[in-house]
Amino acid sequence: MTKILMVCLGNICRSPLAEGIMLKLINEQKLPITVDSAGTAGYHIGECPDRRSIANARKHGVDLSPLVARQFSVQDFDAFDKIYVMDKSNLENVLALARNKAHEAKVDLLLNELYPGEDREVPDPYFGGEQGFEDVFVMVEKACQKIADRYK
Ligand code: 4NP
Repeated sequence: MTKILMVCLGNICRSPLAEGIMLKLINEQKLPITVDSAGTAGYHIGECPDRRSIANARKHGVDLSPLVARQFSVQDFDAFDKIYVMDKSNLENVLALARNKAHEAKVDLLLNELYPGEDREVPDPYFGGEQGFEDVFVMVEKACQKIADRYK
């Protein structure tokens, strides 16, 4: 089993979406992967995902409503095999907690799965409109599909 952690800032928009999409692919395709998500910040601990994220994902057949926000912690470096972050500020925040090179090696931008080495970011949709959530859905789903294909 490969243990994957999806990380963003608040754990209410992007990383729960990545978790929900990945969970659906894991269940449909019986993939040997487990997935969880976390936020680098503690603002939304214990909350369910943003209602706009839940509504958009639902349109695509992905249920985010059972997910609960938690904060990333240094123990996650040992608990997970791969840690995907959404943007460069998440990357910086996660790497600042890494204790060694093995920890650092587990961390990458999610979109580097689709565009290796390009360091593209999943933009934060929190302060924008509905279209931002749809755009994020499309890019996160493509990246998750790419990960899933590797485990088929
Ligand atoms: P997320 O989006 O990192 O994709 O969950 C955000 C959620 C909340 C905040 C910022 C980004 N916030 O500032 O509360």
